[in-house]
This record gives sequence, C-alpha cells and structure tokens, in this order.
Amino acid sequence: MIFTVAIDGPAAAGKGTISKAVATHFGFAHLDTGLLYRATGRRVLAGEEPVEAAQELRPEDLDRDDLRTAEVAQAASRVAAVPEVRAALIAFQRAFARREGGAVLDGRDIGTVICPDAEVKLYVTASDEVRAARRYLELSAKGAATSPAEVLDDLRARDARDAGRDTAPMKPAPDALLLDTTNLSIEAAVEEAVRAVKQKLEQGRR
Ligand code: CDP
Repeated sequence: MIFTVAIDGPAAAGKGTISKAVATHFGFAHLDTGLLYRATGRRVLAGEEPVEAAQELRPEDLDRDDLRTAEVAQAASRVAAVPEVRAALIAFQRAFARREGGAVLDGRDIGTVICPDAEVKLYVTASDEVRAARRYLELSAKGAATSPAEVLDDLRARDARDAGRDTAPMKPAPDALLLDTTNLSIEAAVEEAVRAVKQKLEQGRR
C-alpha cells in the first residue's frame, strides 16, 4: 500500500509528536524532514558550502545528537531558503513518501511542494507563546542554557524566514486539515489526526 500523510506547520507546534504517534498507530514509516535541513545547516556551520552540504548528506548525518540546538535551527532555516538546497533534497523525500507500507512526513512544504497528492494533509499550528513554552521545556530538559524570551525570538525569526521565502514558503495546502493545538492537548490532536487518516483509508477500501 502506498499512502502519504503530510504534516506541516511552524516550529514547535506539535508536528513531531503527532507524526510519530500517527506513524506508530498505522505502522507507517516516519521522516522528520526538518532533520535534513538541520543536518545541512550543521555542515554549513562547520564550514561547508550549503548546496554541496545538502548534496552530500549521508544517513549518519541525521543520527547526530547535536542537531536540536537553537544555533543549528537558525542555520537550518537559512539554508532552507536556498532553492538549490531544497532541490537537492526533493528526490529523497518523494521516494520516502511513496515507499511501500505508508509514510508520514513532517516539515514546512510537504503538502504544498513535496507531496501535493498526499492522501492526508494536516497543518498544525499554535500561538507563538504556547509554542515557545513547549520548546523551552524541551530544550531546558536537555540542559540547554536558554530563556523563554530567547526561545520565542528564535521561533519568530525562523517562522518569518520560513513563511517569507520565495521557494516553498511555509503555508497550509488549500486542502489541509488545520489543527490548532493552542488549547488542544497533544492526545486530542493525535486523535484528530488518526481519525483523518482512518477516514481516508476507509474511503480507499470502499
Ligand atoms: O522542530 P522545529 O519545528 O523547530 O524545526 P524543524 O522541523 O527541525 O525545521 C528546522 C528548519 O528547517 C525550519 O525552521 C525550516 O527553515 C527548515 N525546514 C524547511 O524549510 N522545510 C521542511 N520541510 C522542514 C524544515
């Protein structure tokens, strides 16, 4: 079975948690496409040229444990605005999306550019403050020296760059189901996402 779930939205809206839960529920594979940009950004911070860094990414680049820092996140969002960087990463993402057995991909442009024909598209948002509070908890649990204000600034800077770029800007696909998690628990958001996928799978069987 070929079945793609595309989950997009701004930083720390809950995409990752929802994607993982949906993938586990249905036995689908999951790709956090942000890691591709983070791994490219990390190589650039180490002195590489952005397009070459993207072209030369290896699976082990995605397994590094230093990709979740605010510095790498900013570098990711800068390289993500370079059209040739995005182009270098398209084939891998599309092949992953159409692999046998179903796939969930989360990112910024999955429903709009990478998989415009995805069977299910979700766009997950939450207020800036709620997203910053969630990301602050995650980062400080890992021992990062940061403050809620710094995290809020980081998210806003990346959102503005991600939504404002010319190539594949972050935005909901016209047919995406919008999930605002500002006042929705993550469990309730997962339930909604699972319901949308189930409905589509059942339609396919009829
Ligand atoms: O986890 P968080 O939402 O903070 O970020 P991420 O999903 O790991 O993405 C890091 C950065 O990569 C984003 O700020 C975007 O600039 C870029 N990105 C993108 O442009 N397109 C994607 N499909 C995924 C990420």
